[in-house]
Amino acid sequence: MKIAIGNDHAAVEMKYAMIKYLENHGHEVINYGTDKSERCDYPEFALKVAKDVAANTVDFGVLICGTGIGMSIAANKVNGIRAAVCSEPVSARFAKEHNNANIICFGARIVGEQMAIDILDSYMNAEFLEGRHQNRIDIISKSERSAL
Ligand code: RB5
Repeated sequence: MKIAIGNDHAAVEMKYAMIKYLENHGHEVINYGTDKSERCDYPEFALKVAKDVAANTVDFGVLICGTGIGMSIAANKVNGIRAAVCSEPVSARFAKEHNNANIICFGARIVGEQMAIDILDSYMNAEFLEGRHQNRIDIISKSERSAL
């Protein structure tokens, strides 16, 4: 799969760990995040990843900041984005099965490296269940104000 990843200064090491893990499993990763520890603004990275995901040039996105919360708030401003913050694998599975999340977010200050990998795996191994869940997503989509 082709995956866009973004991070701020709070998640540089976690970002590298996720890229290594994903590439070792045969995925292509586009790194939109900062590679430096200097303080920076997470929405810039969230929006880059969200735009690629919304344009369908990647299969999904990964966003990591201190908590994952700011990244998800920013990414969800882009039409077509369903970004879910997850701190454990069960939420990550349901984020895909029920919400068809196209960006998974987590916090480098909240979860450790192994938990982050488990979250990613759980999300990537799940499939959207469609049916009634699609109806609910359609309701959300209709509330978006304008096309990209
Ligand atoms: C940066 O200190 C922190 O606010 C950011 O990484 C993130 O947690 C925001 O939601």
